[in-house]
Amino acid sequence: MAGVRAGWTGGRLSAGLFAAVREYAYRKAGIDLVEGKQEMVAARLWRRVRVLGFESVEAYWEAVRRDRTGGMEADLLDALATNHTGFFREPAHFEFLRRRIVPDLRERGAFTIWSAACSSGEEPYSIAVTLVEEMGEAALTRARVRASDLSVRALGVGRAGIYPAERFEKWSAAWRRRYLLRGKNGQAGRCRMRQEIRRMVDFERVNLMDPLGPEGPYPLILLRNVMIYFDRAGQERVVAALTGKLEPGGYLFIGHSESLNGVRHELETVEAAVYRKAAGGRA
Ligand SMILES: C[S@@+](CC[C@H](N)C(=O)[O-])C[C@H]1O[C@@H](n2cnc3c(N)ncnc32)[C@H](O)[C@@H]1O
Repeated sequence: MAGVRAGWTGGRLSAGLFAAVREYAYRKAGIDLVEGKQEMVAARLWRRVRVLGFESVEAYWEAVRRDRTGGMEADLLDALATNHTGFFREPAHFEFLRRRIVPDLRERGAFTIWSAACSSGEEPYSIAVTLVEEMGEAALTRARVRASDLSVRALGVGRAGIYPAERFEKWSAAWRRRYLLRGKNGQAGRCRMRQEIRRMVDFERVNLMDPLGPEGPYPLILLRNVMIYFDRAGQERVVAALTGKLEPGGYLFIGHSESLNGVRHELETVEAAVYRKAAGGRA
């Protein structure tokens, strides 16, 4: 079929198409597809071509550019984002939450924690479980977790709250009984977060590059393992916007392999990958 492989030159995208996709991803989502990512981008676009039944990467790209519903844009950005995550990933953060943040949260009424690039939900559910472990029944009524991401597909997984059972291998038997429902028949080998936990978490699509809504302020925001996608300017913009969404004295978690070194910001460093807004308001 003529055109099927157009733009697909020896496993790479044509330079022109890569440049166009790169500019688009940066403009729409702040995703900085640096040189060297051509093969990854090509593989991911080609996968969408096959799944959606387009004739060529050009035809897919043309459909993205023409679409006015936002559906194709979301599909492409989904394909370009990496959603790798896990329950209790980077456990030091959950220990910090337990030890240093929960004692203050226990003293107050309702509150919301924001998991700002939550991928498929493992991170917000880990927060919810930590809060229930530490606060008991009170967490079910007083605590909420706002879980947002760019990826519609990842958010769908999070909303369903269904994961392969092996993801919970490290959980104790007591935790599995308390927080999970074991799938049967068609769902064998899968576990679903129990309804009480799912009810604590609100999933929502938020592009961190867009102006943020009126929600907040929050005592804790998690911005973990997402800044790697952004260039310095994008990182500064997002960190400034999220700082504005923290309560005085509120905490920001970033990934342990990330750093705010060289990023202008107004936060105090507390420990590795933990920052805090000054209690008086501005840091
Ligand atoms: C590697 S995952 C990190 C998930 C989780 N925070 C963790 O640390 O395990 C990065 C997530 O950032 C999301 N992302 C990328 N660009 C984004 C943007 N502009 N706005 C919101 N989310 C974005 C991706 O869709 C992806 O789910």
